[in-house]
Amino acid sequence: MPSLSLSDKIIAITGPTSGIGEVAARELAAMGAHLVLIARNAAKLDKTRQDILRLTPSARIDTFVADVSSQKQVREVAAAINARYPRLDVLLNNAGLVLGSKREVSEDGYELTFATNHLGPFLLTSLLFGLLEKSPAARIVNVSSAGHMGGSFRPENLQLVKGYNPWIAYCNSKLFNIFFTNELQRRIKAKGLNITANALHPGAVRTGFGSQSGDFFTRFVFGIFGLFFITAEEGAQTSIYLASSPEVEGVGGQYFAKKKATPTRNRFITDENERILWQMSEEMTKTRFL
Ligand SMILES: NC(=O)c1ccc[n+]([C@@H]2O[C@H](COP(=O)([O-])OP(=O)(O)OC[C@H]3O[C@@H](n4cnc5c(N)ncnc54)[C@H](OP(=O)(O)O)[C@@H]3O)[C@@H](O)[C@H]2O)c1
Repeated sequence: MPSLSLSDKIIAITGPTSGIGEVAARELAAMGAHLVLIARNAAKLDKTRQDILRLTPSARIDTFVADVSSQKQVREVAAAINARYPRLDVLLNNAGLVLGSKREVSEDGYELTFATNHLGPFLLTSLLFGLLEKSPAARIVNVSSAGHMGGSFRPENLQLVKGYNPWIAYCNSKLFNIFFTNELQRRIKAKGLNITANALHPGAVRTGFGSQSGDFFTRFVFGIFGLFFITAEEGAQTSIYLASSPEVEGVGGQYFAKKKATPTRNRFITDENERILWQMSEEMTKTRFL
């Protein structure tokens, strides 16, 4: 039985129907958290809820269906969550994917990896921020990746209209998770709010990740090397730690791996680039934030 009690915490998780998010939801529910699960597939979401309830019959779990790549759906789900809860203590932006070798766009016209992995979490965080402010000490946890090291920031080709490749799109989006986290923490600090934002790398984890990609390289890497990856249970530990541990109370603006603050490695990570992406993201999502 886990010793830490989260019975006074309301925790929202995106992408809880598989892999890291599913384990995080299960373990946070076992610690007593009231879960707000956001997923795009209603049947999988219901199964996730039932699976958690089988292990933790007392779990409080509310479910919301939304595809985070759709700004309309993110707005609808945020409105429903804002109407229902007195506050939000943790937002775990976990949903993410790598796509295939053919460039796709979201219903709003943005490259689909960028829309799913960056713009969706940006908009959701923006719309739930008022609810997070009502928590005595809220946490925003963004699941990034060591893949951020391979990313680049080129504002003129953010949508990869030229030179699309699924892994370039993925690494860029995970770099942008770090940009977002850093700029978010700077703005939170400037306002003196008791909210922290951190990013993390979960490890190379054997999950459903890569299954959305028809790309040969991706299937090869995840099919063969996946045998040597860590389990979803191991991969979820840094997300769970950042969402729940008293050790990181008040710690923000960091990038964690294996539950340790770790330096990021990418020359595009500058305050100026982070500010530019924030402004571009505000324009693309038609939201103003902090
Ligand atoms: N696995 C790794 O080695 C690894 C390494 C570094 C970082 N990460 C990051 O870890 C996070 C979790 O990935 P995972 O490994 O657990 O992969 P996963 O098993 O594929 O789980 C991804 C989750 O995100 C959801 N999702 C994807 N697109 C979505 C959308 N448009 N709207 C709503 N939900 C969506 C999926 O929903 P469906 O079930 O409906 O598809 C699923 O629940 C991702 O952000 C990923 O980038 C993973």
